[in-house]
Amino acid sequence: MRIVRSVSDVRAAVREARAQGATIGFVPTMGAFHEGHLSLMRAARAAHDLVVVSLFVNPTQFGPSEDLAAYPRDEQRDAQLAESAGADILFAPSPAEMYPDGFATRIHVAAVTDVMCGASRGPEHFDGVATVVAKLFGIVAPDAAYFGQKDAQQILVVRRMARDLDIPVEIVACPIVREPDGLAMSSRNVYLDAPARERATALHRALAAAEAAVARGDVTADAVLGAARAELAAADIQPEYLDLRSPDDLTEVDAVAPVALLAVAARVGAARLIDNTILESH
Ligand code: PAF
Repeated sequence: MRIVRSVSDVRAAVREARAQGATIGFVPTMGAFHEGHLSLMRAARAAHDLVVVSLFVNPTQFGPSEDLAAYPRDEQRDAQLAESAGADILFAPSPAEMYPDGFATRIHVAAVTDVMCGASRGPEHFDGVATVVAKLFGIVAPDAAYFGQKDAQQILVVRRMARDLDIPVEIVACPIVREPDGLAMSSRNVYLDAPARERATALHRALAAAEAAVARGDVTADAVLGAARAELAAADIQPEYLDLRSPDDLTEVDAVAPVALLAVAARVGAARLIDNTILESH
């Protein structure tokens, strides 16, 4: 695996691979790799000839009071893990490489960013995501890009952005990877001390309680959200949001009929965690 720092070097590597008929799979990341990231890299590896992983803690998607400075960084460890998962190129640019002096463009995806994390983290979050992902797509020009379903709203934002800007890339959503006790893997789980780590499992229990409600035939938003809220309350967790929405456009729905996205965000100890599940009624 090669570590590449400049836009021009990634472009040259991709151009050379393409000239030999290779297809390109791309995994954009902010590093601090866990099994979730590695599952995306393995999926890209299984489907493509060249696998490019980007490692860039993107400053423009963090709000002023968020954890940009504290965000876990360990490039050496990440490079070893990416190589073990089959990456060919690790693109690890500096902020100045991505945002040179005079940088003045920001991409705003409307509608799907108005709710959930867009409402609670502020508009700059998804503007930052859409802008950096558009840049990365422009640099890597992949055939397919791999994202984790844990960031369900991010996937919708990226899909809309790629469609609206006619970027010819397939967006592949990969399943959430969980710890044995159900906690969704996240780079931010390192912020959890032992008591918070224990309480954090309530997010998964809340989603499971909602799934159980739907399985019993209780498909109304009141029933589903009530079941989930009770699990959070039992762990003394006040969600930032707990929403039942259309998985296609994030409009609110009043029942699981026949599918709905149940999404939650909550502060637990020092971490802000998100999780979600797709509910299906039969
Ligand atoms: O999901 C992430 O890690 C980031 O939001 C992404 C897609 C790499 C953009 O910075």
